[in-house]
Amino acid sequence: MSTITTISQLADYVGQSVTLHGWVLRNTPKGKLVFVTLRDGTGYCQCVVERGEGTEAFFDEAKHLPQESSIEVTGTVAADERAIGGHELRVGSLKTIQAAVEYPITPKPHGIEFLMKQRHLWFRSQRQYVILRIRATIVDAIRRYFNDNGFILIDTPIFAPAAGEGTSTLFEVEYFGEPVYLAQTGQLYVETACMAHRKVYCFGPTFRAEKSKTRRHLTEFWMVEPEIAFASLDDVIDLAEDMTCSLIERVLKDHRADLEFLGRDIAKLERIQKPFHRISYSEVADILRGPQARELLEKELADKTAEVEELNKKIEELTETAKTARKKWQQEKAAQEEQAARERRNELEEEITNIPRHMELSANFEWGSDLGGSDETIISRLHERPVFVHRYPKEVKAFYMRVDRRDGRVVENFDMLAPEGVGEIIGGSAREEDYDILISRIREEGLPQEPYEWYLDLRRYGSVPHGGFGLGVERTVAWLCGLKHLRETIPFPRMMGKIYP
Ligand code: 4AD
Ligand code: MG
Repeated sequence: MSTITTISQLADYVGQSVTLHGWVLRNTPKGKLVFVTLRDGTGYCQCVVERGEGTEAFFDEAKHLPQESSIEVTGTVAADERAIGGHELRVGSLKTIQAAVEYPITPKPHGIEFLMKQRHLWFRSQRQYVILRIRATIVDAIRRYFNDNGFILIDTPIFAPAAGEGTSTLFEVEYFGEPVYLAQTGQLYVETACMAHRKVYCFGPTFRAEKSKTRRHLTEFWMVEPEIAFASLDDVIDLAEDMTCSLIERVLKDHRADLEFLGRDIAKLERIQKPFHRISYSEVADILRGPQARELLEKELADKTAEVEELNKKIEELTETAKTARKKWQQEKAAQEEQAARERRNELEEEITNIPRHMELSANFEWGSDLGGSDETIISRLHERPVFVHRYPKEVKAFYMRVDRRDGRVVENFDMLAPEGVGEIIGGSAREEDYDILISRIREEGLPQEPYEWYLDLRRYGSVPHGGFGLGVERTVAWLCGLKHLRETIPFPRMMGKIYP
C-alpha cells in the first residue's frame, strides 16, 4: 500500500511507500542507477531508480525521460541530508503521464528576451518559483496587516470616469461609446469609504500608460491603498513604517532559505527597523547639491569600473572552461555563469555611462523640480533604512494633496524610498480637506470640475483631515528579493511593447 502525497509532506513518511506526481527537472543516469530530480509544485525530490528485477519494465524509460515530462512515481522514502529537499525516493514503479517534447528552457544559457517570451514555462524554473512564492506571502502579509488592524477592505472600480493621478498615464477604453479610463489608483474611492468606515483599504490592479521602458515601471501593477479618517500626515507615515516592518518580518520568518537561494543579503533586510528617516524635500534638495551626493557617485564610478575589470577576467576564464571542461555539465555551468557575467557587465557599463549625467543632475538640482530616478537612488543609497521624503512642491504633485498651512509652496505628502538604491516603494499624503482650496487646486491643474463633483461632496458633508498611501506590490517584491527589474516580480508582466504571453 502506498499513500499519495506531495514532496513537502515526505518527512511524515520516512521508511514508507508513497506515490508522487510531478515533472522531471533533470535525470542523470549513472551506471545501473538513474537519478530523476522531480519537482511537484511543493518542492524538489531526488528519485533513484536502480536497474534490477523490479524495475526492468521502466528502467530504460526513466533513463530517457525528457526534461519536464510529467510522471507518477511510487517508492520508499529515505531521509538523506545531502539530497535536495532532505529526502530521497527509492523508486519501485514509475509511469510517464506525458513525455515532453523538446523543452525550450534547457540547462544552457538563455537571454532575458527569450525567457520573457517563454514566461509561461519560465515560471517553472526554481528562481521564478521562489520569487512568486515570496510575492504570494507579501500579498498575504499585506492583507493580514490591514485586516488585523481594523481596516475594512473596499474594492474600488477599475473603470474610472476621471484621472486619479494626473492625466499623463491614462489608458483610455471605450465604455458604451463613452471614453473612460482604467484606474490608476483606487484612492479617490477609498477616501469616500473612509468617511463611512474610518479605516479602509483597497487592493487591486492599477494601470498606467508608462511610455518609458524602465526597470521600475509596469503598465499593470498591484497596489494596496489604505486610507484613514481623522489622520495627519504623521499618522499616515507612522502607518507606512509599521506596515513595512511587519511585511519584512513576515518574509524573513517564512522565506529565509528562499532569500538565500536568491542571493539576497539578508542582513540588510534585518537592519530595516523603526524609526525610518524622515527628511523634507527641501533638505533632500540640499543633500543632492552637496558633497555627500558627489562623493557617493564618485565612489560608485570607481567601484563599478573595478567590478567591470574583474568581470573581464572572469568572463575570459569562464569562456575557456565552457570550451575545455571535461564534463558536459561543467561546460554548461560555465556557459551559464559566463552569460550571467556578461549581462552584469553590460548593466554596469550602462550604469557607468550614466553616472556623469547623474552627477550633473544632482549638482544642479533646482528646488521645485520633481525628484528623478537617479536623485531617488542617491538618497536611497545614502541610508540603510527607508527614507520618508516629505513635503514636495505642490506643482509636481497631484491635486488632492493637502497644502501645507505653514508653507503654501509645498504639500503634505511623502514618498518612501527603500534603501540600496531601490527608490520609491510608497507614495502617500494627507488629502486636502478644505473645499475652496481643493477647487482652486483642481483649477490650477487644469482639470475639469464636473467629473470630481462626487469627490467634492466629501468636502461638503462633514469634511475631516484624512490621508493614506499606496504601496506598489511589485516594487516591494523586487526590493525584498533583491531584484533590479520588476519583470520577474509579477506572473505576467505588462510593459510598453510587451504583452505576450
Ligand atoms: O506614488 P503613486 O503614483 O501614488 C498613488 O497612486 C496614490 N494615489 C497612492 C495613495 O496615496 N493612495 O503610486 C504608489 C506606488 C508607488 O510608490 C510605486 O510603488 C507603485 O505604486 N507604482 C508603480 N509600480 C510599478 N509600475 C508603475 N508604473 C508604478 N507606478 C506607481
Ligand atoms: Mg509616486
